[in-house]
Amino acid sequence: MSVTCVFGMQWGDEGKGRLVDLLAASSDVVVRYQGGANAGHTVVVGAEKYVLHLLPSGVIQPRTTNVIGNGVVVDPWTLLSEIDDLQKRGIDLDGRLLLSDRAHVVLPYHKKMDAALERLRGAASLGTTSRGIGPTYGDKFMREGFRVADLMRPEVFAGRLRANAAARNGILARAGLEPLDPEAVVTEMLGVAQRLKPYVADTTTYLLDAHAQGLDILCEGAQGFALDVDHGSYPFVTSSSTGPAGLSAGTGLPPRALDRVLGVVKAYSTRVGAGPFPSKDTGPAGRHLGERGHEVGATTGRKRDCGWFDAVVARRAASTQGVDSIALMKLDVLSGLKELRVCTAYELGGRRLEVPPALAEDWEACTPVYQSYAGWERDLSNVRRFHDLPREAQLYVRALQDVMGVAIEVISVGAERDRFIRTTEGVPQPV
Ligand code: GDP
Ligand code: IMO
Ligand code: MG
Repeated sequence: MSVTCVFGMQWGDEGKGRLVDLLAASSDVVVRYQGGANAGHTVVVGAEKYVLHLLPSGVIQPRTTNVIGNGVVVDPWTLLSEIDDLQKRGIDLDGRLLLSDRAHVVLPYHKKMDAALERLRGAASLGTTSRGIGPTYGDKFMREGFRVADLMRPEVFAGRLRANAAARNGILARAGLEPLDPEAVVTEMLGVAQRLKPYVADTTTYLLDAHAQGLDILCEGAQGFALDVDHGSYPFVTSSSTGPAGLSAGTGLPPRALDRVLGVVKAYSTRVGAGPFPSKDTGPAGRHLGERGHEVGATTGRKRDCGWFDAVVARRAASTQGVDSIALMKLDVLSGLKELRVCTAYELGGRRLEVPPALAEDWEACTPVYQSYAGWERDLSNVRRFHDLPREAQLYVRALQDVMGVAIEVISVGAERDRFIRTTEGVPQPV
């Protein structure tokens, strides 16, 4: 019995979905605890590819119960279309999907506001996914939001929406948007509420019971540490606590229930949207990573910027989030590069920085301090044992483990389920 947290240690898109699917084979419950449909988690099973935005990445494993926790912001239309899509592909979620009655709902005007705020920011736009994430979390913390439980009680929902429509319309007008008609929103929402109803539950009570019964619970973070609202490159971040620190708030499981924190890193870095990225490479190496790694956003279809592994970010993620072990993803993408680099520190105004600076402007001005490693040619996708990797790959992986100071326990060498190397005691000395 255990509670495990899997979370991204970089800028998102580390391969969390692929890893969660793998681990879900031996889990009873898989839980999302923050974020919303800004996430795009890919699971590849044979010829089938699933891109999940709100559903936990445990859904493909038939034995799991999947929970959308109270910390997630839920766009009902996206959720229903994901459920329908899976149903069409032969995956039935009836009886094994639970949606928290405390989760906040992304209403249509939240998405409009997201887009409008981005327009108003002009050149300083954040490059959000326009899924309404910031405005929905904003309303939550302003105590103006609507939760799934409100949707289940139409008179409560309608009453509160009518009561504060005027205040909302003031904000919408400032963003240059049409005022909302509360009656139209109520009608629109009540239609989807009926369809959501069978899944709605007090998921906190469910999880506490599951934990008491000794079930294996896997918690799936969305986004990544460098996008964390507190620890990331604010304001170029998302609006939630992406790591295990957000897990307790976003599920209701007490912090002490967490047994294991598994951080996920890619063997290089990518970022989509605006904000600092000191180790970005716009030359041939960056192009290699983008092309071989198929680095295109799973949610927005935007091209991801690519660059070298940033150990400054990964070390900070490991220390602040209490990472016990690491899954290293997409090592196979590096095959064919002559030289590999790892950003081990930053330089800013002649000073060496071991941790990211507080100001995004400073972070943007940082230049990377690189350590270089030899690359390798060979395709890695069929390697299943660490010592069968080319020696250069062994040295590179060992260097990443050393620079982070945390054991690498899984190395992924392909998107498909069986393409991984297990290194339970951490990565050994290269031979
Ligand atoms: P997530 O948001 O962290 O779940 O990651 P995404 O799904 O957005 O992006 C990861 C991409 O890399 C997806 O297309 C995965 O199918 C793919 N992927 C995951 N692990 C590996 C791997 O080890 N090697 C390769 N080549 N692709 C991988
Ligand atoms: P997964 O879970 C990568 C980025 C956006 C933007 C910033 C804020 O698939 O790893 P938001 O819509 O959250 O207000 O956008 O965060 N972003 C992600 N980047 N992967 C994600 O999710 C992301 N979710 C948000 O591009 O820069
Ligand atoms: Mg993604």
